[in-house]
This record gives sequence, structure tokens and C-alpha cells, in this order.
Amino acid sequence: MRLLLLLFCVSAQLCVAQQAQIIRGPYLQSVTPTSVLVHWRTDVPTASRVFYQAKGKVLEKLDTNRVTDHVLALNQLKPSTRYAYQIDSKSFDADRYVVTAPAFGSSESVRIWALGDFGDGSASQKAVMQSIEKFTVGQRPDAWIWLGDNAYNNGKDEEYQKNVFDVYQKAFLQNLPIYPSPGNHDYAGKHDPSLPPYFSIFDMPIEGQAGGLPSHAESYYSVNYGPVHLIALDTEMQEASGLMLKDGKGKQVDWLKADLAANKLPWVVVYFHKPPYSKGSHDSDTELDMKSMRENMTPIFEQYKVDLVIAGHSHVYERSFPMRGHAGVNETFDSSKHVVAQTQADKYYVVGPMGQGVIYVVSGSGGKFGGQRPGYPMKSSVYTNNTIGGSVLLDVNKHTFHLKWIQSDGVVGDEFVIEKR
Ligand SMILES: [Fe+2]
Repeated sequence: MRLLLLLFCVSAQLCVAQQAQIIRGPYLQSVTPTSVLVHWRTDVPTASRVFYQAKGKVLEKLDTNRVTDHVLALNQLKPSTRYAYQIDSKSFDADRYVVTAPAFGSSESVRIWALGDFGDGSASQKAVMQSIEKFTVGQRPDAWIWLGDNAYNNGKDEEYQKNVFDVYQKAFLQNLPIYPSPGNHDYAGKHDPSLPPYFSIFDMPIEGQAGGLPSHAESYYSVNYGPVHLIALDTEMQEASGLMLKDGKGKQVDWLKADLAANKLPWVVVYFHKPPYSKGSHDSDTELDMKSMRENMTPIFEQYKVDLVIAGHSHVYERSFPMRGHAGVNETFDSSKHVVAQTQADKYYVVGPMGQGVIYVVSGSGGKFGGQRPGYPMKSSVYTNNTIGGSVLLDVNKHTFHLKWIQSDGVVGDEFVIEKR
């Protein structure tokens, strides 16, 4: 009798394993120099099993709990190493792999793709994706940062499926680590972080395992990726105290200041959804969320010598001068006062380790695009474009930071280089 039950059990497990279909993913989360979380979803509950391989050696990770939303941690990996992986199979596929992050302290060059306001199911969304696919054939991105409004219209699970997973799965999600941030659409216009499906779909490295200080909060976290310190913030979340990022104080801001103070890497990129400076489809002079970000947060970015602040929300591309000391409305911008003196050129900046101003980029046209408010383009802008979608590539090594805005037609619409010596 015992034998029969065991046989039945084994047979049933095999039967379920054969019948289960992957309906989401796999996608890669919290990638560090030595670990990755592989996520996927099946149509019926099954055990979770991943086979992975580097240099011909095949390893297996198994969790026998039967679930539909699967998360498996692969640990003890080697930095900057490519691992083929497969769900419940040893038939590896050339497009399904993870490359671990560079070792902490490594200054090897990295390529980071920044995408904002994308998941709307539009033709422009697909065109922007295809432009990056084509542009990066010879050098794929290493990491992918999301600037919020990832899934329209309300960040529902089914909207993530249709407008994110179904769009990016084959070309990017199965092999490119995502470090996301949320927007107002992901929060469905609310501010309570217990509500958005975003937080159950994604796992963020909040314990400091990817570098930076532990945040212990899924809304905000940091990542050391080669020579870049990436900081993801949440402009939508209201803390129990009632404070939000735009107030310039609270737990998130306290963590941000401590994380910035502790950083030792040469480049700092801070990203979030609602920009401090924009005159695209949103206006930072008249919309209180953005006005407060400008007034309360830009002094912090300046104090800690952030190199780039990149946001979305406004469905355009806007790039500012390297600037300091301008927290007023657009009309009060004075290039003789606010543009950092030693960086007057508009495409090539040579700065000392502590001497540059902050460059603010809005890249909110990864799917949505268009719109302008009175005063567009801003006086603080070097370049703006609201006529075509696009996204940003960052190529960074120890001494050089190169930003390119790649339009959906493949043209490099804007670029600049900062050389730090
Ligand atoms: Fe938005």
C-alpha cells in the first residue's frame, strides 16, 4: 500500500510538472555579484526547479513547495559571469541567461538602460524597445532601471502581464536584471505601499546585498553596479508619518542621506518617477508634487554630489545643464548663476571628483510621448524633445559617464559625456 501511494505521488508530480505551462517570465530580480532571484508564474501549482550552467557544469535548484508564483534564489555564483538557466529542463536556450553583477569594488565598464512611462501597449512602446534591441546588438545592456509608470493604467497584475511581460519577455526580461521604481500609475493614484501589485511582482535588494545601505523597504534601495551607485526612490509612497519623498524628510530621505554619505563609488545615479524640473506633459512650476521635489530634494542631490537624477512622468525627453542652487520656478533660472562654471560646454564635461553640478534628465517617453506646458523648453534645459519616443543608455566606466538618448527610430537624439578626473 505504501509503495502504491508513493508511486501515485511520484506519478502525479511528474504529470503536473509536464502539464504546467509557464505563463509569466522567467525574469531576473535582485541580481548581485553572487546571486539572483529567478521569478516565473505557472498556470497550475508545481514545484520550482531551475537548472543553471556555467562553463559546462550543470547545477540544480529545487523547491518542492507547489506554487504558481515561483521565486528561486541562485546563490554562490561568480561575479561578472554568464549562466545559462532553464526552468525544469536542461535544454538551455541562447537567450535565457543571467550575467551576475561585477564584483564589489570592480571598476569594469557597464551599460545601463533607463526606461520610463512605457507599459501602455502602444506602437511607440514596441518601437522604443526595438530601437534598443537593434542599438545594443554588439553590446547588450547589463542592467535595466525603470523610472515608473511601468504598467498603465492602474498597475494591475493583468496590466503588467499585457503591457510589460508580454512585450519585453523574449528580448529582455529573461536575461536582463531589472531594478525598478514605481510611478503614480503603478500605485493607481494612491499612496499606500501595501496596495500596488508592483510590490508582489518584483523583489528589490533591500538588505544591502547588492551594495549600498540596507533600506528594509521595497520602495527604495540602492545597488552598486561596477563603478555606478544606483539609487531607486519612490515618489508615490506615503510613510506612516504622512511624509513623502517630496517633503525632503522622513524615513526614505533619512536612508537616502545615509546611503549617499556612505557611497564610495565614483558615479551616483538617482532615479524615481516625478521629476523636479519639467515642462513636458507635466509642469514642475504648477504641480505641487514636482514643485516640492525641486524645492526640498534638489539641495540634497547637490550636497551629496549626485551626478545624474533621472525621472519619468512627463512624456518627453529633457536634459538640463549641470546645475546648482536653482530651486525656484523656471523663470528664475539664470545660467550665469546656476550652471556650474567649469562645465559650460553642452556635450562634454570635464570635472573634478567633487566639482560637478547635478544633471537632471526626464526620460518619460518609453511608450507614452508628447505634450508641453507653458514655458517649454525650460530655461535650464540643454536639449528637449517631445515629438518622438525614446529611452536612455548609460555607458559608464571609472572615469567616463556617457549618456545617450536613443530615439524610437534608432537615432541618437542627444548625448553627453562627463569625464571625472
Ligand atoms: Fe506618472
